[in-house]
Amino acid sequence: MSFIKNKKEIIVSSLLYKTLLALSVSAVLSTTSQASELISSKTTLSQTDSLVVSVLFDTSVQGDLYLATLLPATSNLLFINSNMQLTATATPYKTNTLFSGNYDLFTIPASGLTAGEYPLYELFVKSGASPYDANNWLEGTAGLHSITFTVLSSSSSSSSSSSSSSSSSTTTTTTDDIAAGKALYLTHCQDCHGTTYRQATSVSETRHAINIDDGGMGYLSFLTDAELTSIANYMTSLVGTSTSTRPVR
Ligand code: HEC
Repeated sequence: MSFIKNKKEIIVSSLLYKTLLALSVSAVLSTTSQASELISSKTTLSQTDSLVVSVLFDTSVQGDLYLATLLPATSNLLFINSNMQLTATATPYKTNTLFSGNYDLFTIPASGLTAGEYPLYELFVKSGASPYDANNWLEGTAGLHSITFTVLSSSSSSSSSSSSSSSSSTTTTTTDDIAAGKALYLTHCQDCHGTTYRQATSVSETRHAINIDDGGMGYLSFLTDAELTSIANYMTSLVGTSTSTRPVR
């Protein structure tokens, strides 16, 4: 039997793992109405733009709203929770909420986001039910919506003219760098490691943890050394030390 009929369903299948492969044909055929639609006025963003998304409802829908994304060059689906944190486990963005009309989802600054493509997936599920079973989807299989944002790299927009930049190979920590490190840490690390994580002061420890997929961190391999350095500088600014020794586990 062929339940994969078009590109969208292939994306759905690869994203929502094996459970969706058990998607029954009846579920595919049952619902065709589109009650909601993801809307954004701007999907190509420079670092000074903000990512603004809302959902428009034709009819009202009550249930759990799930939002998920993929970070650039990765394939692990990450859910966006109500605190705007990314989590690998399925966590609703809004629980048992009645939606109708125009609902503003969120606005987040593009600064601090790694350049690249960010798909945003949206799905409504019966309150408390698993999002991995399409039978629980309130709008049926037509209910999975997506929109893709492209974040441009900062170099393509403004020149942050630093006058005397004849620096040697020593690392200079600027407040900009710490802010960037903070944004990166909040986006990519905090959900698993909490607000402070001493080991994150070490670039090599972090790179090693990514390389060996420690705790499932392998998907963070897209982070560059410069980004890990920013994260380390941010964490150093919080905890005050830079660990060069391997911490006790
Ligand atoms: C999906 C959850 C998750 C995310 C996201 C994550 N980590 Fe981890 N990380 C872990 C787990 C679990 C371990 C293993 C902890 C242990 O063994 O003590 C770990 C280990 C580490 C280690 C090695 C610690 C040691 O004792 O060897 C470092 C360093 C680290 N993480 C830094 C980071 C940084 C920096 C980020 C963000 C760029 C990050 N992690 C994102 C879950 C995560």
